[in-house]
Amino acid sequence: TGSLTILGIETSCDETAAAVVRGPVDRAILSNVVRSQFDEHKAFGGVVPEIAARAHIEVLDKIVAQALDEAGCSFDDIDAVAATAGPGLIGGVIVGFLTAKAIAMAAGKPLIAVNHLEGHALTARLTDDLEFPFLLLLVSGGHTQFLMVRGVGDYERLGTTIDDAIGEAFDKTAKLLGLPYPGGPAVERLARDGDVTRFALPRPLLDRPGLDMSFAGLKTALRTQAKKLEPIDDQTVADLCAGFQRAVADVLAARTRRAFDLFREQYPRITPTIVVAGGVAANGEIRAALLKASEEAGARFVAPPMALCTDNAAMIAWAGLERLRLGPVDDMGVSPRPRWPL
Ligand code: KG4
Ligand code: ZN
Repeated sequence: TGSLTILGIETSCDETAAAVVRGPVDRAILSNVVRSQFDEHKAFGGVVPEIAARAHIEVLDKIVAQALDEAGCSFDDIDAVAATAGPGLIGGVIVGFLTAKAIAMAAGKPLIAVNHLEGHALTARLTDDLEFPFLLLLVSGGHTQFLMVRGVGDYERLGTTIDDAIGEAFDKTAKLLGLPYPGGPAVERLARDGDVTRFALPRPLLDRPGLDMSFAGLKTALRTQAKKLEPIDDQTVADLCAGFQRAVADVLAARTRRAFDLFREQYPRITPTIVVAGGVAANGEIRAALLKASEEAGARFVAPPMALCTDNAAMIAWAGLERLRLGPVDDMGVSPRPRWPL
């Protein structure tokens, strides 16, 4: 294959994003525009689906125009349009996917329906020289899962959370402690001044085989401890944040070690690589714990730049490109879907 240029669109949560990506020869992100709806949702302490869908409608055309402009492209210069078709908040997914469909039809280009999770799964191949197979740990506000990525379209979910997503657990913990939304960055900041040894918090499910995880019990244990000490002072909040963050990091490190074992059982001759993605991958303590677990296991740890870990359209364009290079794609008949397991 020669070089392909793909326009990507992402609208499955609270980011309106468009990007232009080139590859597989001379891989490059020609533009990557992300507009966060943070201000629209802040007052509600979480993403409101109806508000999200309306906000996507209002700005998507401008974001797409900006992405093409920054890339120095017109519709004629692109080889295909790729858009998230799920999973996610369905109102937003419909806005993005139908916009992509309209552009593809008007410009006479193929349309590629991308699974949002596939976007996260393949992004590291845009930024790093990474061959299949590899492990992916996706940790965001909506997802917590280990995936075996064997090839384009060939994924196996090895484990997931049986209750809260990790980002959700951070957000709920923050709310409980009176900290602002999104909770992850606030908890991490306060944890720096906290004493991790003060509170004994559980590491749920670690005694069980497999790679499933649970975070609801951790949050409940934290609430119980906090209740006992009410009204809680600043130092106690910091200590609870530190204890919580350490527990999450421990659980992820333990599960990552087991993921390497599983990988080696299946691919004894290949050095395992684990790629992290999702907003929670911004967390310094979690990254450090994963890096340490990887080094100890003789495995490779890959963390794409943060802008590509959180929701963006370059990852959608890249996933589209990976599909297109394998052969013609025509997804005009695909319908957007709120649930779409890989
Ligand atoms: O991937 P993302 O931007 O959006 C989706 O959920 O799709 O992830 C957002 C989540 C939020 O729950 C936020 O609290 C969490 O990522 N997060 C963090 C940190 N930064 C963001 N969690 C822990 N530590 C952080 N530094
Ligand atoms: Zn995401």
